[in-house]
Amino acid sequence: MTSTNDIRRSFLDYFAGEGHHVEASAPLVPHNDPTLMFVNAGMVPFKNVFTGLEKRPYDRAVSSQKCVRAGGKHNDLDNVGFTARHHTFFEMLGNFSFGDYFKEQAIHHAWTLITGTWGLPPEKLTATVYHTDDEAFDLWRKISGLPEERIIRIPTSDNFWSMGDTGPCGPCSEIFYDHGDHIPGGPPGSPDEDGDRFVEIWNLVFMQYEQQADGVRSDLPHPSIDTGMGLERIAAVMQGVHDNYDTDTFKALIAASVDLTGVPADAARKASHRVIADHLRAASFLIADGVLPSNEGRGYVLRRIMRRAMRHAHLLGAQDPLMYRLLPALTTEMGAAYPELIRAQPLIAETLEREESKFRQTLDKGLRLLDEATGGMDKGAVLPGDVAFKLYDTYGFPYDLTEDALRAQGIGVDREGFDAAMAQQKAAARAAWKGSGEKASDEIWFDLAEAKGSTEFTGYSSTEGEGEVIAIVKDGANVGAAESGDKVVILTNQTPFYGESGGQMGDAGTISTASGLKAVVADTGKPLGRLHTHQATIESGRVAIGDTVHLSVDAERRDRIRANHSATHLLHAALRKKLGEHVTQKGSLVAADRFRFDFSHPKALTGEEIAAIEAEVNAHIRTNEPVTTRLMTPDDAIAAGAMALFGEKYGDEVRVLSMGRADDASYSVELCGGTHVQALGDIALFKIISESAVSSGVRRIEALSGEAARQWLLARDEALKTVAATLKTSPEEVPARVAAMADALKKAERELAEAKKTLALSGGGGGGGGASGGPAIEEIGGTKFLAQVVEGLDPKGLRGAVDDMKQQVGSGVAMLVAVNDGRASVAVGVAGDASANAVDLVKLAVAALGGQGGGGRPDMAQGGGPDGSAGDAAVAAVKAALAA
Ligand code: ALA
Repeated sequence: MTSTNDIRRSFLDYFAGEGHHVEASAPLVPHNDPTLMFVNAGMVPFKNVFTGLEKRPYDRAVSSQKCVRAGGKHNDLDNVGFTARHHTFFEMLGNFSFGDYFKEQAIHHAWTLITGTWGLPPEKLTATVYHTDDEAFDLWRKISGLPEERIIRIPTSDNFWSMGDTGPCGPCSEIFYDHGDHIPGGPPGSPDEDGDRFVEIWNLVFMQYEQQADGVRSDLPHPSIDTGMGLERIAAVMQGVHDNYDTDTFKALIAASVDLTGVPADAARKASHRVIADHLRAASFLIADGVLPSNEGRGYVLRRIMRRAMRHAHLLGAQDPLMYRLLPALTTEMGAAYPELIRAQPLIAETLEREESKFRQTLDKGLRLLDEATGGMDKGAVLPGDVAFKLYDTYGFPYDLTEDALRAQGIGVDREGFDAAMAQQKAAARAAWKGSGEKASDEIWFDLAEAKGSTEFTGYSSTEGEGEVIAIVKDGANVGAAESGDKVVILTNQTPFYGESGGQMGDAGTISTASGLKAVVADTGKPLGRLHTHQATIESGRVAIGDTVHLSVDAERRDRIRANHSATHLLHAALRKKLGEHVTQKGSLVAADRFRFDFSHPKALTGEEIAAIEAEVNAHIRTNEPVTTRLMTPDDAIAAGAMALFGEKYGDEVRVLSMGRADDASYSVELCGGTHVQALGDIALFKIISESAVSSGVRRIEALSGEAARQWLLARDEALKTVAATLKTSPEEVPARVAAMADALKKAERELAEAKKTLALSGGGGGGGGASGGPAIEEIGGTKFLAQVVEGLDPKGLRGAVDDMKQQVGSGVAMLVAVNDGRASVAVGVAGDASANAVDLVKLAVAALGGQGGGGRPDMAQGGGPDGSAGDAAVAAVKAALAA
């Protein structure tokens, strides 16, 4: 028997021998076509080569391409398990000519390979051509020698192939294999062609046109060839079986399923084993190519496939999650041809097990509800849409799973009712949101999210990508198109631009097309948490809804943001380690040029604490350990030690970021949707530049990483050098020199103050209430009184000076007014047994100086006022009080 792996190899070898470049299978998520959900044919990765947009160094190629048909134009999900040849995942063998050979060589190669190399008997083969394609008809006659009645002209779209609603297309010619008259069915084009006897094994497409969105069909630059042969079908033919599920690969997978469930693949249970085998392949390959289960888009198709398989595992009575335990059988069969399967094995196993465990929690209850609802129903009855919706909403049953579950009983589902219930729920969500006080102009985002679903962020692993424009918004309205000079918000179905959220600033970059659009994206947003918007200025060209555009993120800026974001995680962990577990994140801002992190802590950090935290973070950076990202349920993530933010809303799945040394791998574990470095060394350097208070109990650290940190240190170094040069010393000597200078300065200031006081009190400072040369003691109302008004005496020296004056007086009142910069300070002292109260007297003086208050002890009081010219008036006021 020729194994499936041998057939794949021999196909590739044949065409390699005929000068074809062997191209590895592209990932299932198309990188070059945003209009396609999954790669659904071998030609998809070459689409731009056919249309002339892209040039390759070869003009013939051969591949074995992974394909998924479970959504969009080609969708086989509903039939899988119940027919001999439907799959969600399959491999397409194909040979391609890009303007090189055309019909004749294509037919020649096909015929030579299947009847020559593989030795299939010509009498078992039939060809079809598009009804008007005489050339192909004649070539088949000439090359194969098939009789005219076995070259059948087909007038329908069966013989006109197109990739999707748009893209390369052309008439085609198919080769059918006759499995024998023991199977009912007629040749293609006959009334009973739908029978299973004649099976199409190879489709040769004569690529000539490009179907455009506006309905126009234009010529491709060169006539080209695209062929597709389902590997599973040809394996059935070559292994002498009629059913794809009886080929070696499927037999091995079904055997593993039988083995693990203990349930034989007999008539009653055959479909379940087949569903499991098929869906295991689709789910595993999708996960290996980066798709993860979610509630929208590609992730939801994956979830539907997985849950459908899981219900069948349940039908087989599997008590524990089954799918992940079948994975080794799959890698044994297909891992050699597709190494990505081996590489991603842990992720696939973890994702399968998690999804199955989660779904099992509601599966039983959902099935019970379904049993109750359909209890009295007969064949041909229809399950009400609201029940299907409840199963979807509460029990996680995708719509098609409910359909699938009722299929055997011949019960249908009311799709309209289901859609109406869904619409009602959305309307309720919208009403609730309106009440939250958001701006009414944001209503447009709700409309768009409802009409188009979420947009997809593809930028965790790349900064470039294609997207289809789904809205162009200006002043809160979807304007449909924009031209040079317009400032608009562009929404694409997928984008590598990170939408500002979670404290991380948005990306910047450009959006362009080959036809001349250049739009500069200065910022991004993420309205409703699920639309990724680009704030763009159109610099040239035009953009309209439906356009496929190239999105390019400023990668250097993104790298800086990534380094800063990962540095905040390390900082958070270091703070907790050095300050204590009470430290939690209170906010953060991650920009390209800096970042800040707010956290709970009751007091300012000391210099030593800051130094220790910096050292800790930098030590981790130097380990260059990888940063790992995993997807988990929020509960699992928290159980795994992730720091969740209290009060944050998390979806079904969360990204969990782990950073640390090999010996401390969970040093930092956080839930985070942001973009991060791949290894800690990418952060390069970490520097705290400030620490301050935000509010009571909340501190803020501002810091830099990488080149920005280096520049900051450089600027500090330059400043130090400049200071050293001014001081005529070396940078190392600067601290000692500055300390010495500060001491000297303080001493000089003290001496200067002393000198000023002496000078002032000796009358040299101007003003003065006594005889020239100094104040004189007077006698007022029986009390000795000495007063002086001076300028330039430091108020700090006031008390000392009044003490001196008190000694001079012996017993009596001393008063000194010091005028500085137009303001007056006053001190009054009562010495010896004089009966006056200094506090009362100073208040009078202060009032005269235009101020208020003044106070101290009965023997020494002080105050001040704004009217520096009223010194004499203050003295007079005190004198008047003593005289009274
Ligand atoms: N692209 C062609 C197909 O998928 C060959 O059938």
